[in-house]
Amino acid sequence: MDEHDRPLSPADPTPAGRRSFLDWLLGLSAFGTAAAIVYPVVHFVFPPPRPKGRAKGAVLAAQTSELAPGSGKVFPLGTRPAILVHTPDDKWRAFTAKCTHLSCTVTYRDDMNMIWCPCHDGRFDLTGKNVAGPPPRPLAEFTVVLKGDEVYVTEEAERG
Ligand code: FES
Repeated sequence: MDEHDRPLSPADPTPAGRRSFLDWLLGLSAFGTAAAIVYPVVHFVFPPPRPKGRAKGAVLAAQTSELAPGSGKVFPLGTRPAILVHTPDDKWRAFTAKCTHLSCTVTYRDDMNMIWCPCHDGRFDLTGKNVAGPPPRPLAEFTVVLKGDEVYVTEEAERG
């Protein structure tokens, strides 16, 4: 039996057995390295198909049945918080949920019918305009698309 024909084992005390095992281990790590480089490149060049009927960057923010008129919710839009508001006059609007003062997360206050920042009592109307408190600018507004019972919000800002 040739020394290269011996079974691979790290416990094999002979130099040829250790060398074979190290060759095998080196080959395995080279394959892992190559896969770690090639996989993201292939994924970037051939991205997975986007579900039909969904705009680029659109996020499912809520079901229409989830928010009655005069309510709102904060949801993740990419890496940032956003707020979806179902206005009392049955319009859907979405804004960044980061206050334009010091970036606290705003919330919808149904008792005030406003978007409110709890940090310094900043207030925004339902068009996102800063109307009271320290916020210096309006909230950036996002595009809302209704598809059946689903409310999608796109990451591209309409203004802001
Ligand atoms: S951070 Fe919103 S009012 Fe100051």
